[in-house]
Amino acid sequence: MPDLSEIELSRRGILAGSAATAVVAGAPAIAAPVSSPAAEASPMMPVHFKVNGERRELMLDPRTTLLDALREHLHLTGTKKGCDHGQCGACTVMVDGQRINSCLSLAVQHEGDEITTIEGLGTPDKLHPMQAAFVKHDGYQCGYCTPGQICSAVAVLDEIKRGVPSHVQADVAARPQFTNMELRERMSGNICRCGAYSNIAEAMAEVAGERA
Ligand code: FES
Ligand code: FES
Repeated sequence: MPDLSEIELSRRGILAGSAATAVVAGAPAIAAPVSSPAAEASPMMPVHFKVNGERRELMLDPRTTLLDALREHLHLTGTKKGCDHGQCGACTVMVDGQRINSCLSLAVQHEGDEITTIEGLGTPDKLHPMQAAFVKHDGYQCGYCTPGQICSAVAVLDEIKRGVPSHVQADVAARPQFTNMELRERMSGNICRCGAYSNIAEAMAEVAGERA
């Protein structure tokens, strides 16, 4: 049986050989950086909004997403970047009370808006009821998706109260109820790699005053 060092050596040999083959076969090497006049000349734009009740002003490249404005410019790192493509919900924040994926929205689109992030919901000493319910029901494991889950959960209960219909309602004209199915359907854009879904639904049901 070969020892591990031999295996490692032969693996490296294969990789080196593959790379050499690619070069010989004319595969493009790493492209030389192409300077983009548009990128170099990008004008900065001012944006003003309220974040967690505080008025903030930023000068931003207009291509900056709201997520990057929050994390990189305002250092509110509670909002997480998962996919950066609108697929995981980790970046969920509330804008004027409605949840959005902040990675899909440009910061400059939010002039004058009121933005609430996880930092604006509660503090370690005074948790928001949804935060307290997540702790009580173990609605997380690694916690990476949790800020987005909690922001989404708060907004979902408000959506149901306001009568916003969902896909699982048989009659979209009827008032939606706080059922387990409703909660799960409305939270389906928030992915949890740790699979804490049942506990999240229980936490939400408790805050809604219903049984999951
Ligand atoms: Fe925005 Fe995944 S980071 S949806
Ligand atoms: Fe780990 Fe949701 S708690 S991804």
